Amino acid sequence: MIQSSAKAFKSYPGYKAFTIETILLDKPLGFTLYIDNGEKLIKYVHAEGMLQTDTKERLIQNDVDHFYIATGDSHVFDNYMIDNLCTVLNTPGMSKSEKSAIIYSSAIHVMQDMFESDISASKIMRVKELMHETIKRVISSEVTAASLLQLSTHDYKTYSHCVNVALYAIGIGHEYGLNEEELHTIASGAILHDVGKCRIDNCIINKPAKLTLEEFETIKDHPEHSHSILLENGETNPNILEIVLMHHEKLDGSGYTKGLGKNDISFGTQIVTVADIFDALTSNRSYKNAASFFVSLKTMKVQMKTQLNLELIDALIKMMGRA
Ligand SMILES: [Fe+2]
Repeated sequence: MIQSSAKAFKSYPGYKAFTIETILLDKPLGFTLYIDNGEKLIKYVHAEGMLQTDTKERLIQNDVDHFYIATGDSHVFDNYMIDNLCTVLNTPGMSKSEKSAIIYSSAIHVMQDMFESDISASKIMRVKELMHETIKRVISSEVTAASLLQLSTHDYKTYSHCVNVALYAIGIGHEYGLNEEELHTIASGAILHDVGKCRIDNCIINKPAKLTLEEFETIKDHPEHSHSILLENGETNPNILEIVLMHHEKLDGSGYTKGLGKNDISFGTQIVTVADIFDALTSNRSYKNAASFFVSLKTMKVQMKTQLNLELIDALIKMMGRA
């Protein structure tokens, strides 16, 4: 679920605290708001209600600047936040860390939902809108890709990996001076690059040991699965389709699925490949610990120097310094 802001609130088991500014006025909630009376939580606005202007003013006059929701309402609350993301992010006085927390958690929620339930055209649309909003906020310097990535736990899950790869790709592309539309295409391809893994047996995806050759051959089909899933859900942007299909190709022809070379791999795909490898190296897996940023960058620049676009690794290093 979307995490509360960096500000520390009194904790109540089974409830999560949020700044009151994240609630829009005069809009139906769908979840119950509780406030802390100093001893316990009391129900303040019921799920069918809305927070009205005078109610909010009264709370602020009484120094109540946060509220609680029951964790059982977290799914509804996350959807509310995502639906109102633009408005919530425009809340006056919201800090970079609060904005980063809302954007990062929204992206995690959308992708987790996609991997744990089903993939649909409307979910793909939603994730693209989320990328659009994220890119706008990076371009306007309200957040940076690095400030968003600081929220990663570096514990590998396919859905969090997709989010991280998209953020690294946005950061690298922004560092390179790509425009908003180019960034949106790359971010969309990046966040959807591994959706095809949902068509591969979870026992292989989550295997806590090295894959057998046969299992690896099965895994190698996932870019084609991602490509098929996007086509089935109405994706028509050839650049996004290319990124998901080619994200494991390498400049020296040693990648899969076709073993293409440098001249056949788009710049956007090259960005996503660098982002993908960096996040994989810096993430904890059940069979390996995360490598440090330094060791991962060295691995990419030395051991993988014929496979990757080294200029993009330099852009990655620069963007990581902008937290
Ligand atoms: Fe992949």
